Amino acid sequence: MRFIPALLALAIPLAITASPIPEEEAPRLPGASPADPGALFERATQLCKIISSDGDVKCRAKPSFSGAVKHSFPNNSVWYFKCYKSSDCYNGNCTWDYNADYDCYVNGYYTSDNCSVSKLDTSINS
Ligand SMILES: *[C@@H]1O[C@H](CO)[C@@H](O)[C@H](O)[C@H]1NC(C)=O
Ligand SMILES: *[C@@H]1O[C@H](CO)[C@@H](O)[C@H](O)[C@H]1NC(C)=O
Ligand SMILES: *[C@@H]1O[C@H](CO)[C@@H](O)[C@H](O)[C@H]1NC(C)=O
Repeated sequence: MRFIPALLALAIPLAITASPIPEEEAPRLPGASPADPGALFERATQLCKIISSDGDVKCRAKPSFSGAVKHSFPNNSVWYFKCYKSSDCYNGNCTWDYNADYDCYVNGYYTSDNCSVSKLDTSINS
């Protein structure tokens, strides 16, 4: 009976090959996969310029004029804005762009086109 030992000899290396050896994590390029939450965040975050005809722009704790002033952004300074919320309107503009650096909101009237509704994400939290 040479046949069975020969089969067993073949089955052992096969079993080793089939054992669940953890595969090495494939290197991932940032933004390479649409399912990558980091990539989504990068798409939603925009670099926007502060444009003001009336001095420094107030960045508030809430997306509202009743929100405490947390920081003031100088005219023409450039900041990252993560998302927007709809709230109090100023000159017909009812969006508030969220700045994560200071955890505050600037009315969309004062931000450049990069902070348009189509480019910024909406936020779930309020
Ligand atoms: C708009 O975003 C681009 C890409 O991040 C940036 O290079 C540019 O300076 C921004 N423009 C303004 C006016 O903020
Ligand atoms: C802010 O900068 C713009 C040019 O980007 C200028 O037209 C405007 O007069 C400046 N506003 C103030 C208050 O200096
Ligand atoms: C208000 O600002 C947002 C964000 O900057 C922009 O998308 C929108 O076009 C502006 N709307 C008006 C009425 O100015």
